[in-house]
Amino acid sequence: MSKRTKKIGVFDSGLGGLYIARAIQSAMPQYDYAYLGDTLNVPYGGRSMEAIYKLSEGAIRYLIEKQDCDLIVIGCNTASVTALRKLQREFLPQNHPDKRILGVIVPTLESATELGATQIGLIATEYTVNSKIYDEEIVKITPRAQIYGKPTPLLVPLIENNGEKYMDAVLGDYLEPLIEQGLDSLILGCTHYISIKDKVRELTKHRVRVLSQDEIIPPKLKDYLSRHPEMEERLSQNGMFKCFATDAGPVCKRNIEKLMGADMVLTKAVY
Ligand code: DGL
Repeated sequence: MSKRTKKIGVFDSGLGGLYIARAIQSAMPQYDYAYLGDTLNVPYGGRSMEAIYKLSEGAIRYLIEKQDCDLIVIGCNTASVTALRKLQREFLPQNHPDKRILGVIVPTLESATELGATQIGLIATEYTVNSKIYDEEIVKITPRAQIYGKPTPLLVPLIENNGEKYMDAVLGDYLEPLIEQGLDSLILGCTHYISIKDKVRELTKHRVRVLSQDEIIPPKLKDYLSRHPEMEERLSQNGMFKCFATDAGPVCKRNIEKLMGADMVLTKAVY
């Protein structure tokens, strides 16, 4: 019997993480994936640390215990800055010592510095910017680089509520003072922002390198698997992608269809 029985899980507070999951799947279509969006509790960005940790732990448990995932990527920046360390240092060793959880912060910063970035802008939820985790992690990678964080709380509601026509004005207002600081790169530190990466590139007139996590995470995950054959050898290879959400109402179904195509079945996750 094949030892390859385990899936790769991707977790986000909502559906924005599907951009990352889909990009991972297209880079490595052979594996089986389970995506979980906590659509019942999105957005996480304005919640307390305790609440975000509790919601993230519940989601991780579901992916490990109910969906047979041995390797999980937390696509959500807010959950990555809040819950990842505790999940890796306490939850996994106590409950599932052979599973692995990866976040998006360190791979994003590694990619930025590999590209030579030193003056790095960050737009993200208030929670992500104020956590200062990006600032803490960059120091560990290189002392030469610096993060210029700017909370951009209007972007998620605009993206979620078809507010595209206001986007240029709002983005312009957020980006101008950042760009004036002489940035060489700009991290889109929120899963939702992947949907506006072209707009950001256009508005910044390509004067900064815009770093979008759907472009960063797939090669980083591929690299991780090549360095961890003990994990890679557990992963099943039927090319399947299953999509779960904690609330699977009509809006959620429509968005899934928009992102994944009409034949994507959305299953309600109960835990
Ligand atoms: N998915 C979240 C992130 O990447 C954004 C939405 C939220 O606040 O939950 O930070």
